[in-house]
Amino acid sequence: MSKLLYIQASPRKERSKSSQAADAFVSAYGKRHPEAEIEVFNLFDADLPVFDGPAVEAKYVILHGKEHTAEQRRIWGEVEQVIEHFKSAGTHVFAVPMWNFGIPWRLKQYLDILVQPGYTFRVGESGYEGLVPGRAAAFFARGGSYSEGQAAALDAQKPYLEQILRFMGFERIESVAVEPTLAEGPEKAQETVSRAIGRARELAERF
Ligand SMILES: Cc1cc2nc3c(=O)[nH]c(=O)nc-3n(C[C@H](O)[C@H](O)[C@H](O)COP(=O)(O)O)c2cc1C
Repeated sequence: MSKLLYIQASPRKERSKSSQAADAFVSAYGKRHPEAEIEVFNLFDADLPVFDGPAVEAKYVILHGKEHTAEQRRIWGEVEQVIEHFKSAGTHVFAVPMWNFGIPWRLKQYLDILVQPGYTFRVGESGYEGLVPGRAAAFFARGGSYSEGQAAALDAQKPYLEQILRFMGFERIESVAVEPTLAEGPEKAQETVSRAIGRARELAERF
């Protein structure tokens, strides 16, 4: 599969530091794979269905092996479209800001739509099995630094997305921390982004 889906979870567009690093990856990847289709998908612009009470009911109907009502079929059709779009790519790139130690709500909404039994995972004889054997490069921007020391225990951004991707079956996940982007001032932030762009380009050589 030659499609790359570039998922941006920051609303800050060109000011987003996770996106600046991920852009460098995608651009280098595009040069290495001129045949690849590349789609940029900003989650704050996307028309994602709200995963509310009726959608949750439609999910439980499936879990209990029952039939959807006409309204649930309509709601579930929207969920299926988002999943199909996600699964149309063999390579996924994520630009992810840290918000309150975790991921932005819009990415959580996206994951709540994507992670569905029978679509992106299933329950096999030996437990959960992922159904999306893909590969991902993920760029995690944070105002402070969380890669080492006691602060690592506070990080509910990078370990969480990595866990969900593994759960869905991703076989290769390459993560780059873009940090600190705020805590040590603008000069350090510039250095952080330059370093992350360098790592992104190196990583693209191996994709
Ligand atoms: C709502 C919100 C919450 C944030 N929470 C944290 C946080 O918990 N820890 C942290 O280090 N930085 C936090 N930040 C700072 C961002 O992680 C930082 O600015 C990062 O570069 C954002 O990614 P972006 O540049 O790709 O948008 C927060 C920023 C926002 C807007």
